[in-house]
Amino acid sequence: MNRPDLDGGVLSGVRISGIGVHVPERVLTNDEIAGFLDTSDEWIRSRTGISERRVAADDEAPSDLGVLAAGRALEMAGLTAGEIDLVISSSLVPDMVFPATAAVVAHRLGAHDAAAFDVQAGCTGFVYALASAAAFVGSGFYRRVLVLGTETVSRGLDWEDRRTCVLFGDGAGACVVERSSDADTMTFDLGNDGAGAEKLCMPAGAARLPASAQTVKDRRHYLKMDGPEVFRFATRTVAESCRRVMVRAGLEVGDIDLFVPHQANIRIIDSAVRRLGFEPGQVFTNLDRYGNTSCASIPLCLAEAAASGRLKRGDRLLLAGFGAGLSWGSAVTIWTLDGGAAWV
Ligand code: ACO
Repeated sequence: MNRPDLDGGVLSGVRISGIGVHVPERVLTNDEIAGFLDTSDEWIRSRTGISERRVAADDEAPSDLGVLAAGRALEMAGLTAGEIDLVISSSLVPDMVFPATAAVVAHRLGAHDAAAFDVQAGCTGFVYALASAAAFVGSGFYRRVLVLGTETVSRGLDWEDRRTCVLFGDGAGACVVERSSDADTMTFDLGNDGAGAEKLCMPAGAARLPASAQTVKDRRHYLKMDGPEVFRFATRTVAESCRRVMVRAGLEVGDIDLFVPHQANIRIIDSAVRRLGFEPGQVFTNLDRYGNTSCASIPLCLAEAAASGRLKRGDRLLLAGFGAGLSWGSAVTIWTLDGGAAWV
């Protein structure tokens, strides 16, 4: 919700009670990419802030990474999979068009009777999934929801296109959202501008343009992006959405202990930080080591921030996502966990 006339977006009695992450072992450096593409470590680092990223093995899909992250989140929450009511998974490039990756994850975890569905909101998927979980729990519909942001984006990239393949990485994060005391709140601002839908898309491989020899020849079953357009959209939208969600939560920039933006590009993050007036110490980034892990980027940051002591119980968090759609989503919440999450 981004309409100022709407008095909503605030959910009481919900909290994150566990978080877990997993990243593939294989590290792919900028220099390695420069070995097979006309690019350089210097170009990639100066234009994006990325030095290296993880790449999944050939037999790994989002559900494989997601199951490992989810297992750690459940362990931290002190729950078994059988106690989960609903699994919501978000991926830019899911296991399959259908069924939902969430269904595969739920089965493999042993959450046999849990409801399961996927969110498709580009890289904003994790924030959308978190908002959905908070709404289900806050309304009393469910008690415990498992939320995933899990990606093997590398599988959907054109490794001959230097404008896109250098940007992304693979990884997974999961959170358990549970009923809590009324003092624990989550506040959201969600939105989308479909006029920009074609600025970031995978044109072939589904109903509009089924995969064929021709689409493969044209390389249309890979991620396509108008980088400068997405850049302009992101720099404007992130700051606007963050301002709205902070107003809704009754907080100002100085009240936020940690700002965790989607890790797309350090220049987009720096622009949002400048526009909003955050001090560098209030901002968490790790895209230098993981690149843009799409739906996994925010939980990967949260887990690393908790593990390194940057995030402590009682801290006020601002999360900001944006991506295909063109979508955006921001959240304000209080971190209620003690100690570090299981870090990779
Ligand atoms: N190495 C070397 N040169 C490159 C590379 C590369 N990897 N990529 C592009 N170039 C070249 C281009 O070909 C172009 O050369 P030309 O002028 O001779 O044609 C030149 O660099 C400038 O290209 P631009 O696209 O204008 O470069 P820009 O400074 O805009 O940076 C970038 C490109 C990094 C992609 C930027 O636009 C960006 O970050 N956009 C946002 C992308 C993003 O965040 N996407 C994810 C959104 S979330 C989701 O849902 C997936």
